[in-house]
Amino acid sequence: MKGVVTSISGATVCVDLRGLQLYDRVYVGHARLSGEVVHLEKQRTTVQVFEDTHGLSVGEPAEGTRAPLTVALGPGLLGGIYDGLQRSLPGLQEQSGAFIRTTRPLPSIDLEKRWEFIPSKRVGDAIVKGEVYGSVREGHLAHPLYATLTGELVKVAAGDVCLAEPLLTLKGGEQQYGWQDWPVRRPRSGGQKRPAERPLITGQRCIDFLFPLLKGGVAIIPGGFGTGKTVLEQTIAKFADTDVVVYVGCGERGNEMAGLLSEFRELQDADGRPLLERTIIVANTSNMPVAARESSIFTAVTMAEYYRDMGYDVLFLADSLSRWAEALREISSSLEEIPGEEGYPTYLGSRLASFIERAGVVETASGKSGSLSMILAVSPPGADFSEPVTQACLRSAGAFYLLDTSLAHSRHFPAINWTQSYSLFAERGSAFFRQQVAESWPQLQRRCREILQQEEALREVVEVVGMEGLQDRDRLLMHAAERVRRDFLCQNSFSADAYATPQQTLERISAIVERYDQALQQLDAGTLLSEILKGQDDAAG
Ligand SMILES: Nc1ncnc2c1ncn2[C@@H]1O[C@H](COP(=O)(O)OP(=O)(O)OP(=O)(O)O)[C@@H](O)[C@H]1O
Ligand SMILES: [Mg+2]
Repeated sequence: MKGVVTSISGATVCVDLRGLQLYDRVYVGHARLSGEVVHLEKQRTTVQVFEDTHGLSVGEPAEGTRAPLTVALGPGLLGGIYDGLQRSLPGLQEQSGAFIRTTRPLPSIDLEKRWEFIPSKRVGDAIVKGEVYGSVREGHLAHPLYATLTGELVKVAAGDVCLAEPLLTLKGGEQQYGWQDWPVRRPRSGGQKRPAERPLITGQRCIDFLFPLLKGGVAIIPGGFGTGKTVLEQTIAKFADTDVVVYVGCGERGNEMAGLLSEFRELQDADGRPLLERTIIVANTSNMPVAARESSIFTAVTMAEYYRDMGYDVLFLADSLSRWAEALREISSSLEEIPGEEGYPTYLGSRLASFIERAGVVETASGKSGSLSMILAVSPPGADFSEPVTQACLRSAGAFYLLDTSLAHSRHFPAINWTQSYSLFAERGSAFFRQQVAESWPQLQRRCREILQQEEALREVVEVVGMEGLQDRDRLLMHAAERVRRDFLCQNSFSADAYATPQQTLERISAIVERYDQALQQLDAGTLLSEILKGQDDAAG
């Protein structure tokens, strides 16, 4: 369907195409910039262009596709680095240098790459849509291939294949390829949803011990400027015990993304493979077009769902949703929509929910269970957590790790505030750790919380009377609480301590609690406080 550009206002372009549907993909201009339909009127179709519209002029051609924005799903996504439209960034750089301006469509997955295909069907067999017909090996994972067609097979490829060739031919001539397109805004069906049960081990003591996240759950990390959101997200991306990690850098600094890339190329996972091999990175840095930023979240979550549907555990990380919401606001105001709270569109909450709800545990067709967990950073302006984006995220999240500016200032990292953070998964998480790690897990967890809470209560007293004015038992408590904070909750991401196994976490907290109990006993037995404290400091080294 062809037409022309009739007006342009920034990235919002009107075209004279008729008969299109909302969210259909449109190419505008001689440069074939891609965009999607966001507003329809009888005489006019408004397109939000995902790319830089500099140089575009009225009268240039426009072409409608009658199909929505899609992503290509198939073997070869792992290790990929994409922009918000799933164009390979290394490919774009090759084509247009460091400053991206593309003129040719780029394939998202390498169709020429050779794969060792092991079919599980033979000529004469029937396949049904959704059924597995074979697999290839992608890095550390077996990548099952699902049929998108139904029929009887007359030809089956095997061994060395590439995705440009059909893998199966059906009676009647239809051909099954090893990859498919999927509309980004439509959740993949996945299968029956299941409740989340297993914890996602992040290696961060504060999270795993006090505020655990379950596989399939959603956590948000709100934090003001410089409180450690990016470092925390990237540390979790490195160590989380999931099969696949999808990391979306959404409107963040370009140099941080560059740092992440080079680090992931060098770092290795437990099996000695580069971390990048289990990671998909979607980058839309602050200097890239905003419309593609809005879509980047959906592009990334669709790829995450694809691996989840194979029965893998997938972790989706986004940094930061606030930048995503700002893109939404920018698009909405350029469309002259009626603004809601703080200028965000009134549909902010429902748009956010439409992708957060894509997290969860599903049972796949082959009876495996796959999970999609999300950890989403939010950067509320002025660290005001009552603002609309944080509030909208809170409604859908099961865990909430609030990063505290004053903790960050005192270099307590990760700056997770232990009184205001929470996890709805705490009970189920600790039941699991109790079974898998130690019986004493929930009890130690309770003790740890008590120590921190009592310290909070005593702090006001200390402000009035000073440490010296406290009773001996209270001074011991303050001492124990300091050790919990300094030696247990603090975890420097740039040291060997960046990751702790649940076993190590347990040993560390139980040593602190044991020493505290010993000190209390000594006090009851009449030992002087100064001697006890000296003994404790010596023991702690
Ligand atoms: N876990 C950590 N261990 C050690 N240092 C940390 C940790 N987290 C944060 N930091 C320190 O704090 C600095 C700021 O962290 P980071 O860039 O992650 O903040 P941010 O919340 O992403 O900031 P912005 O709002 O600007 O995006 C880091 O450069 C680092 O020095
Ligand atoms: Mg950051």
